Amino acid sequence: MSKPLKIVAVNGSTQQPSRTLALVEALIAELDARLHVDAHVINLADIARPLGGALWRRELPTAIESQLQAIESADLVIAASPVYRGAYPGHFKHLFDLIGQEALADKPVLLAATGGSDRHALVLEHQLRPLFGFLQALTLPIGVYATPLDFENYTVQSPALRERIRLAADRAAPLFAAHRRVALKAA
Ligand SMILES: Cc1cc2nc3c(=O)[nH]c(=O)nc-3n(C[C@H](O)[C@H](O)[C@H](O)COP(=O)(O)O)c2cc1C
Repeated sequence: MSKPLKIVAVNGSTQQPSRTLALVEALIAELDARLHVDAHVINLADIARPLGGALWRRELPTAIESQLQAIESADLVIAASPVYRGAYPGHFKHLFDLIGQEALADKPVLLAATGGSDRHALVLEHQLRPLFGFLQALTLPIGVYATPLDFENYTVQSPALRERIRLAADRAAPLFAAHRRVALKAA
């Protein structure tokens, strides 16, 4: 059997329970239905305080340094964030400020966000995509946005959101399937 796809998801919410986490888990479940995956979720709720106290990467506690290394070595990053004031929360940005500037170059990144209403759905395109564009990551074309109406008891419920998650997984999975790998010609 081929090596599983190493997925590292960052949930930018510091709240528990978290709708963003529910969205992340639903995305991982759909990917897992299509590919052999090895998934790891980093919840900002668990690390935001010590993370925020580190101005330089060398100041990070070892456990958080390991999380950054996991992001940098992932085959696929799921970058999921709640909307705060029309953008991602500051601590979410701080984590990616401490990631190596070119460590995510050419890395596939699936974007996801949750907000209080539909009004900020374009946070995916106007905030998250440019951030990962700066980092030279390969953001996948289909991102997923959800609002409280899509959830019940912090579980994905609405058929529309389920469909969007399925679409994101359907479009992502072939990118990683071994048969799509094309050998490079020798220079
Ligand atoms: C400080 C703060 C700012 C927020 N700003 C926005 C906003 O600008 N637009 C929006 O749609 N929702 C906003 N929200 C709502 C959250 O984005 C929404 O409840 C999100 O689903 C929370 O995710 P979580 O359950 O994973 O923490 C804000 C919430 C907080 C706490």
